[in-house]
Amino acid sequence: MKKILIIHGPNLNLLGKREPEVYGSLSLDEINGRIKALAESKKVSVDIVQSNSEGEIVSIIGSSPGKYDAIVINPAAYTHTSVAIRDAISSTGLPTVEVHISNIYKREEFRRKSLIAGAATGQISGFGINSYLLGLLAAIDLVK
Ligand code: DQA
Repeated sequence: MKKILIIHGPNLNLLGKREPEVYGSLSLDEINGRIKALAESKKVSVDIVQSNSEGEIVSIIGSSPGKYDAIVINPAAYTHTSVAIRDAISSTGLPTVEVHISNIYKREEFRRKSLIAGAATGQISGFGINSYLLGLLAAIDLVK
């Protein structure tokens, strides 16, 4: 069975409470439940992690080759700042889908630049929590 790693970046543990007008009212647990249900129906296995720490995310990505076939990541605020996460993704050689709940190109100027996009296979942005489900479908397609 193919294995896909889902990474939620900083502050996404606060989903549901955090700016619900931007990020919706579902909690991270509820979103993870939907991700797992989709994975089960598509017969892939998923591990899901959330971290507020850039270094921890870099380490998790760095140890993913050999364990996972693809990565789906919402790098959250690190999208706009982290060369280290970008380089970690490049180092894996794994298909990687960057996802964002909000449309980052419709928001403040500083969110319109993703340092991650150049290392990702592709990006999904702006479909609410469905961005994760679309991202997972894209990752499944890449590993099949
Ligand atoms: C986000 C967009 C980022 O700009 C922001 O810092 C986040 C969430 C999104 O999913 O829309 O934390 O990645």
